[in-house]
Amino acid sequence: MADNVVHVENLSKHYPPDIKAVDGVSFSIPSGVVFSLLGPNGAGKTTVVEILEGLRTPTSGTALIFGTDASKDYAKLRDRVGILPQNFEPFDMLKPSEAIEYWASLYDMRIAKKEVKELLESVGLYERRNSMSKKLSGGEKRKLGIALSLVNNPELLFLDEPTTGLDPKARRDLWKLIDGIRGRGTTVVLTTHYLDEAEKLADDVAIMHKGKIIVRGKPADLVSKYSKMTVVVLVGAGKEGLSEMMRRGIPATEENGDVLVPVSDPAEMRIVLAKLASIQLKVKDMYTRRQTLEDVFLNVVGAKMDEGVLGQ
Ligand SMILES: Nc1ncnc2c1ncn2[C@@H]1O[C@H](COP(=O)(O)OP(=O)(O)OP(=O)(O)O)[C@@H](O)[C@H]1O
Ligand SMILES: [Mg+2]
Repeated sequence: MADNVVHVENLSKHYPPDIKAVDGVSFSIPSGVVFSLLGPNGAGKTTVVEILEGLRTPTSGTALIFGTDASKDYAKLRDRVGILPQNFEPFDMLKPSEAIEYWASLYDMRIAKKEVKELLESVGLYERRNSMSKKLSGGEKRKLGIALSLVNNPELLFLDEPTTGLDPKARRDLWKLIDGIRGRGTTVVLTTHYLDEAEKLADDVAIMHKGKIIVRGKPADLVSKYSKMTVVVLVGAGKEGLSEMMRRGIPATEENGDVLVPVSDPAEMRIVLAKLASIQLKVKDMYTRRQTLEDVFLNVVGAKMDEGVLGQ
């Protein structure tokens, strides 16, 4: 426990009359990892993170950072922690370099021009250093937010939905940046509702749903534990294809007109493919797909997590 950067035990936050934003959550985060709180809108991610940031008081339970109670003694932690709040908007009328100098002054730090340059380069914003922040793109604004959160060279960094609403290229840029931050030994708490983001970046994932952590582990371990490892997709095989599989006793499901045949043991793949190839079926295409955290969520919750909205 002492070695953990974050230790949360039985944490709850209730709002009257009966909202259980966080409902008995426990987890620990060792040093140097990217830990992802993954869940749909309203799961309770920001509430957990804001308790750890000393911004909200828990109804019950403990939230420790470096062994210090974050909700009582955050002043002691401030210099060691960096925060990118959800939907962060930088100061419109400051240039990125000025925003960094201003932010450093809030930590009573004097930051040298050289350090400002290095920080802007590290997030890929040096070329934009003289633009007013209001003229930055959405992705550039997030990069500036991350640069600000790194000003005090934190040992622990909270990133609350850093890529929400960004285009795929901007998201990939930020993934690289976050991976680089982990590479420097900083512990990162990343909240997201993007399953691919957690899968790509996180060493350790806690899936939150309705205020609770429903599963926790390394992405690859969760996939192997909670889903069939691989599926063969028979594109466009539809209901006919499904009943053909059922007639032959091959376990299968239908999804959006495609038939999915799960293969839990990779050694059986050739046998399954040979069996499927021998069946006369109208298919547009056929491919194998490794299952992902998306499937883990679907299997554990019984519903899809789609862009943060819980589907039916
Ligand atoms: N101050 C508050 N008063 C009442 N209810 C609140 C308050 N803050 C949060 N909630 C509720 O608590 C639940 C969890 O909210 P939270 O913001 O932690 O979710 P989240 O997982 O961060 O969602 P998102 O992905 O949308 O950011 C939601 O149902 C929300 O409406
Ligand atoms: Mg949130």
